[in-house]
Amino acid sequence: MCGIVGYLGEKNIKEILLEGLKELEYRGYDSAGIAVLNNGEFSNFKAVGKLINLEEKTKNFTTDGFAIGIGHTRWATHGKPTELNAHPHLGESSYVVHNGIIENYAELKKELIAEGVTFLSQTDTEVIVHQFEKNLKSAKNAFEAFEKTIKELEGAYAILLVTKEEDGTIFFAKNGSPMLVGIDSDGDKYFASSDTPLIGHCSDVSYFDDGDYGYVTKESITIFDKDGHTKQPRFQKLSTNKLSAQKDGYRFFMEKEIYEQSDVITDTLLGRLSHDEVVFEELESSLFDNINEIKFCACGTSYHSALVASYMFERYAKIKTSVEVASEFRYREPIMTKDTLFIVISQSGETADTLETLKMAKAAGLKTLVVCNVDNSSMVRLADATILTRAGVEKGVASTKAFATQVVVFWMLSLYLSKHNSTLSTEEIAQQVQLLREVPASVKVEDAMHERIKRLSKRYLHGHGFFFIGRDLFYPLALEGALKLKEISYLHAEGYPSGEMKHGPIALADPELFTIALLPEHLLYEKSKSNVEELSARDSTICAISPLEFDKADDYIQTKKQKSYMLEFFEMMVVVQLLSLEISVRLGNDVDMPRNLAKSVTVE
Ligand code: F6R
Repeated sequence: MCGIVGYLGEKNIKEILLEGLKELEYRGYDSAGIAVLNNGEFSNFKAVGKLINLEEKTKNFTTDGFAIGIGHTRWATHGKPTELNAHPHLGESSYVVHNGIIENYAELKKELIAEGVTFLSQTDTEVIVHQFEKNLKSAKNAFEAFEKTIKELEGAYAILLVTKEEDGTIFFAKNGSPMLVGIDSDGDKYFASSDTPLIGHCSDVSYFDDGDYGYVTKESITIFDKDGHTKQPRFQKLSTNKLSAQKDGYRFFMEKEIYEQSDVITDTLLGRLSHDEVVFEELESSLFDNINEIKFCACGTSYHSALVASYMFERYAKIKTSVEVASEFRYREPIMTKDTLFIVISQSGETADTLETLKMAKAAGLKTLVVCNVDNSSMVRLADATILTRAGVEKGVASTKAFATQVVVFWMLSLYLSKHNSTLSTEEIAQQVQLLREVPASVKVEDAMHERIKRLSKRYLHGHGFFFIGRDLFYPLALEGALKLKEISYLHAEGYPSGEMKHGPIALADPELFTIALLPEHLLYEKSKSNVEELSARDSTICAISPLEFDKADDYIQTKKQKSYMLEFFEMMVVVQLLSLEISVRLGNDVDMPRNLAKSVTVE
């Protein structure tokens, strides 16, 4: 997820911008850049990869007295992570940084190109600076040109723009992407897309509202609202604790990451959906040529998303799949044939067992693809092709948003392959694309739901075990729910296919055995329900998660009526994540750093 910083004042601007970008590192990025205007001259630096590369490039750069500058960390959406696509983007005499997406960029770009403008990058952002410079030609001043430009943009944005035309001013606009301005005791001004870069510099900050735009100079901050009326900044005290600021007011990173899922899934989808198909710019169209089987390989939560993937790939793309636990696969002398696409899945891209299987597949001459959250990780460097999940940095050891984005990627990829294999019609794919657009809404945490789960959690702090049960792709979700619970509550939990209980596990059923039953309306409801009835008849304590009321349940968490089981899947995913979180909180455990676990398992 991209990050923005800006500064106007007399202090060491290079350090302020670079340190600010460092504070945004945790959000994840694949390139970074700064542009500084000092004594009427611009200096601009960009680098792909970690900030250390940008620091190296700016090693000999110094400024003298008053300067203005903007900086950016970029997560590639439109266009690959290259220096040319990194922000700030240059016009003739102005630079811009931007978070979000300009939805009408293609139309604006087409017009600008027709008028003779040359574009250097593949980004949507670059249109902003060219459109601004086009407007500058007929405007009274730079602000009038900026205001006109903002009104021509559609989509979500946080924007900072600097121009030689007014070398003491930073122009800003915010709509749908966060941004704030801060001021220090000398009156210097700071901008950022979240408050952490400003901690230690500013005691007071003002958060912009959607539709706000304006400019800051040495003397003043001028803000207009969406209707063009001036408004005053609403300054408030800034926390001095960086860690708590990073948690954005949530008790734990895991909680923040559960709440963030709607936004990160929006990022996962960005630029990858047209109205009736899935587009993966990062994939060669030949990736699936001569492929008759897909083998997925991963560990832990990533393994669960691979299991979900196998249901979708077989159902939609009609391709044979197999799913392997990496630590098993690497030692069992597996048979690998060249008509198999080998897909590894990893949040970190560093998990030793998964990495080893990727090496084995490469050595056997298979085509390889990694679905990963961390660009430039070992797996990304090794695999033939990569799809980044764009979940942003995940700090909680128990994975949440990484899983959610992996499943979204696999859903998209299965549709992409359905088109390649002609196994779904254009209409069917278009319908699913529409459903994909609804995923961000389906994972939004509603206060009432969270409160209900918080209250219910007190009944699930003991017992001799939990069974999470589900059918079809709700079975891997059951596995994932059980894994979440055991990791952070230290209670024994198992995921089981609902239909498998009577083949053994039902012997454990008694009131102290807690069954968490996933009962989606749109997938095998009656079958799943009768499995739960079998458990209820043996007096197991049942917590049903379903949009349909179930009278045999002791507890009931009602999910929304959805139009597809896929949307039910995502809503139920949030419910099981929150249930684990609240049980762990009540037990007084360290939710973010559970005992015995590490975030990245780089040893066997
Ligand atoms: C569980 C969890 C782990 C990881 C597993 C693989 O919440 O986070 O099970 O999923 O260690 O890690 P990655 O995905 O980084 O390969």
